[in-house]
Amino acid sequence: MATASSAAPAPTLPVFDGTSMRLSPKDPGFYTDPYPAYAAIHARGPAIFWEEYGHWCFAGHDLVNRSLRERRFGRQILHVASRQELGWPLPKPHLADFDRLEDVSLLELEPPAHTRLRTLVNRAFVSRQVERLKPDIEALAHSLIDGFERDRHAELLASYGEIIPVTIIARMLGVPMEMTPQLLDWSHRMVRMYMFLRDEDIERDANAAARQFTLYLEDLIAGRRRALGDDLISHMLTARSGDDGLTATELVSTTILLLNAGHEATVHQIGNAVATILSTGADPKTMFADDRSTALAVEECMRFDPPLHMFTRWVLEDCEPSPGVTLRKGDRIGLMLGAANHDPARFPDPGSFRPDRDDGMQLAFGGGLHFCIGAPLARLELQVALPILFERLPALALAEPPRWRDAYHFRGLERLNASW
Ligand code: HEM
Repeated sequence: MATASSAAPAPTLPVFDGTSMRLSPKDPGFYTDPYPAYAAIHARGPAIFWEEYGHWCFAGHDLVNRSLRERRFGRQILHVASRQELGWPLPKPHLADFDRLEDVSLLELEPPAHTRLRTLVNRAFVSRQVERLKPDIEALAHSLIDGFERDRHAELLASYGEIIPVTIIARMLGVPMEMTPQLLDWSHRMVRMYMFLRDEDIERDANAAARQFTLYLEDLIAGRRRALGDDLISHMLTARSGDDGLTATELVSTTILLLNAGHEATVHQIGNAVATILSTGADPKTMFADDRSTALAVEECMRFDPPLHMFTRWVLEDCEPSPGVTLRKGDRIGLMLGAANHDPARFPDPGSFRPDRDDGMQLAFGGGLHFCIGAPLARLELQVALPILFERLPALALAEPPRWRDAYHFRGLERLNASW
C-alpha cells in the first residue's frame, strides 16, 4: 500500500521538546505529506503544544471527537467575554465588510444564536431532499467527461472536480450559472483569510471580495423576494421558526457560506480521492461495485486524505481536557481532523488505504453542533462523481506526480493532470 502522496520532498517530522513541537505548516515536506508527522505525534500522545501556532493542538481521535462536542470550547468567545477582558485589539476597519458577514455566520456562532440560525437553515436545506439531485449530478458528470474524453488527457480539478460541486450548489441556490467564475473568484479571495500567516493585502482583498459578493447577493435576493421559486434562497427567505426568520444580513452571510463551503472542500476531496485511488493502485471496479461498497470507499477516501485538516476553537472555561493539558478561558486550541483520521488507536494500520474498511467515525465532516450541514450533499457528489469517472475512463492514470498546495489547513492539489 502506498501513502497519500508519491510526490517529491522527503517528509518533515516535528522536532519535539517535552509536550511541545516545532513544525512549520509552510514546510513543503510537511504539507505535501503530513501523515508521517501525524504518526510521530500519535506516538507521543493525543495532544501537543504546536509552537508555530502558539496553542495546544489535539490529534487523538477520541480527544478530537470529544472536543468537537465539548460545550466548554466554542467557535466564538465574544458571547462570554469582552474584547477588553481578552486583551484583543479593536476590529480592523479595513475588514468591516468581511466582519459584518462573519458576525452572523452559522460557522462562527455558538448557542443560542447558532441553534436559532441552524434550525432556520436546516429547514430550508433538508426540504430540498438532497437525494433527488442524484440524476442531475450523474448527467453533469457524464456531460463533462463527454467534453474531454477524446483529448486523452485533462487537468481534472478544473475540468471535473471543481465544476460539479460549484454547478450543483449554484443551481440549488438559484444563482445564475454564468456567475460561477465570479463567485469562485470572490470565494477564493475570502477563504484566504483562514490561511496560516495572512497579511494586510490578503485582508484588504478578502474585504473587497466580501463587499462585492454582498452587493451582488443583495440584488439577487431582492429579485427573488419578488418572485419566489423552488430554490434554496427562496426557502431561506420563507423559512420560519415561530415568528422568527432570517435577517437580510444572515441571508447574505448564509448564502455565501453555502457557496464557499459548498464547493471548496468538495473540489479538493474529489481531487484527493482520485489521487489516492490512482497512486495506491486500488481497484475502482471493486470499490464501486455497488452502493454499499461505494459508500464505504468514499468514507475511506475521506478518512485517508481529507481536505480540511484543522479547525480551531476558543476555550470558554478553564479546564484540563486531557492529562497535562491545562487550558484557560480565552486560549485557542486546534482540532486536527486529518490527524484524528490517522490515529492508530482508532483505525488499525491507518496509513493503509482500504476501501472496504468499515471502522466508521472518520471526522472529515467534524462533529457536534457544527457538524457539516452539507455532508449528505458532499457524500452524494462523491458517490456519483468518482464511480462515473473511473467507469468512463478505465485507463485513467496520473500524468505527473500530484503537487500539493501550500495551504496546510485546506489540503488539496494544485492540479491533477491525468491521462488515459
Ligand atoms: C467533502 C466536502 C466537505 C467537507 C470535508 C466539509 C467539512 C466540514 C467541517 C469539518 C465542518 C465543521 C467545522 C467546525 O466544526 O468548525 C463543516 C461545516 C459546514 N459545512 Fe461542510 N464540508 C464539506 C462540504 C460541504 C458542502 C457541500 C456544504 C454546503 C452545501 C457545506 C456546508 C457547511 C456549513 C454551512 C457548515 C457550518 C455548519 C455549522 O457551523 O453549523 N459543507 N464542513
